[in-house]
Amino acid sequence: MKYFGQDFLQRVSDSLNIADVIGSYVPLKKRGNRYWGCCPFHHEKTPSFSVSPDKGLYYCFGCHASGNLFTFVQKIENLTFPEAVEHLAEIAHIELPQEEISAEEQKKQSEMSAMYEAAKLAADYFHNCLTKTRMGEAGMAYFRRRHLTPEHIAYFKLGFAPPEWDRLFRDFTQKKQIRPEILRSTGLVGYSNGRYFDMFRNRCMFPILNLKGHPVAFGGRVLDDSKPKYLNSPETPIFNKRRLLFALYQALPKIRETRQVIMVEGYMDAISLHTHGVTNVVASLGTAFTIEQARLLKRYADEVVFSYDMDSAGQNATRRALEIAGTVGLKIRVARVGEGKDPDEFVNLHGGEAYLEAVRQAQPAMDYLLASLLHQYDATSLEGQQHILQEMFAVLTTRDDSMLINSYIRKMAQAMRLDEGVIRSEATRYVKKNHMHIYISPKENTENVVSRESQKLLRLEESFLRYCMQVRRAPSFWPDMKGYEYHSPFCSRLASIMEEFQESGQPLSEKLVQQKLEPEDMEALAALLMREEDDVSVPWEEFIRPLKLGSLQKAYKEHTEKANALAHEDPEASRQEMLTCIRLNREIQELQQKSSV
Ligand code: UTP
Ligand code: MN
Repeated sequence: MKYFGQDFLQRVSDSLNIADVIGSYVPLKKRGNRYWGCCPFHHEKTPSFSVSPDKGLYYCFGCHASGNLFTFVQKIENLTFPEAVEHLAEIAHIELPQEEISAEEQKKQSEMSAMYEAAKLAADYFHNCLTKTRMGEAGMAYFRRRHLTPEHIAYFKLGFAPPEWDRLFRDFTQKKQIRPEILRSTGLVGYSNGRYFDMFRNRCMFPILNLKGHPVAFGGRVLDDSKPKYLNSPETPIFNKRRLLFALYQALPKIRETRQVIMVEGYMDAISLHTHGVTNVVASLGTAFTIEQARLLKRYADEVVFSYDMDSAGQNATRRALEIAGTVGLKIRVARVGEGKDPDEFVNLHGGEAYLEAVRQAQPAMDYLLASLLHQYDATSLEGQQHILQEMFAVLTTRDDSMLINSYIRKMAQAMRLDEGVIRSEATRYVKKNHMHIYISPKENTENVVSRESQKLLRLEESFLRYCMQVRRAPSFWPDMKGYEYHSPFCSRLASIMEEFQESGQPLSEKLVQQKLEPEDMEALAALLMREEDDVSVPWEEFIRPLKLGSLQKAYKEHTEKANALAHEDPEASRQEMLTCIRLNREIQELQQKSSV
């Protein structure tokens, strides 16, 4: 990973106004000393996303997205931290610090740019061949039969690969002076028996774009029924199949707006839906849905609607995809568009509005899975029941959500006419057998019990630190909190930074604190500082005393439990624990009586 010094990061963030940068993605309105707009990270109609130029931070009161300039760009542009820094440096017209790159690295980089260039030229070449030459007429006629207009063809930059063996190879090496090795490593030509030949011949061409909109690979379809129907570029240094999706670049604006992705199987499914106005659609690249693709989509969307073919291959692909999408925490539903049809046929027959209705009606993943398993297996036979339960558990347990599992246990019992208790014990066995740490309650209706006490302490810790930041110094009662053990690791890191400021006598500021924290802590910092400012009048009463009381009471409880546990085995140790309890109790009482000075 590239390393940027603190000075450089500071220069970049000083020369940009966070409200300007964010404002170039979402309209912002000024109110007081903050800017407000609709959150780009979740779907909303009334603005709950706020940006503070003074603090250099943003926070969404709706989905709690938060952070600073760098995290914002990372998230919205789907970049790594160093990439986000480079991106912002470019906007600010700041030159990147010169770094030593090895000759090997330099060579790799120049090969990569040659490959990007070759892929771009190839996309133009195929497109021109389709739209401007006699050779392309067969391709034009094919796309017309599939209801595409010249505008659609231009928008997706569709093309046609000439029928000859090495037309592209000759044109590119002779006229364009591109080295054969570059064409080979881009997957455009192959080599055998001492001859180069074009990979794609006499096929309709679908360019695959990366997230920046650059062509990096192709899918090519035959014009008739010959095999293989589609030929796809191999993996290359500029094309990683596991990390890209067809039409993602074109679909991104709508995906960001709706926080929803519709996932289809075929290139033509995606294209037809886009041309019918359904533009948040992406297609797989002739491979199964991958975990990398799921993570990629998770950055832009909350929900994926799978709209695979209704044949059995499509159904199986759907089931596998559900497990993967569930793992990364995407909400998933499955749309059905009638037996035997793919989305392309459906939308050409019934139009975009009918398709959108099918998407609205899409079933939640687990309902879909249960229904399709009940269809596939005989739920009245013991063997069928076992199959259904195993497959349901396999997917349910990827969610790590006991509430969900418990609620589906109930649904499964009803649908299979089995006793709920039987399913619960089967689930417990499954979880144990697979060494999972998921709690299956033996009884119905258990709530996830989150410790309310520790939640409360956490909020108090945050309020305390927020207060210190607001008054721009560690307050006079800072020493009162010496030795306090923070529950939140983040609060503990922030407190120790404040401690440094306190010792050096320097005033606190949001921007200085940001410099001291690691980039990973920016989200937590923004969340803490940007929430509604509490108007604190008596900090001692409002959080210092409650915090100290909370931690004393927790210690008191722990020592009491220890004393009880040791009572029989080790009376002496138990007595020591009791003495500690007495001391703690005295401190608690003193604290309760002491009022603010
Ligand atoms: P389908 O066979 O369902 O084709 O393959 P389709 O998308 O309906 O194609 P049309 O409508 O006949 O043109 C779905 C996807 O699987 C990949 C392609 O990405 C295709 O879009 N595929 C299919 C291949 O990679 N190779 C093949 O030979 C077939
Ligand atoms: Mn089709």
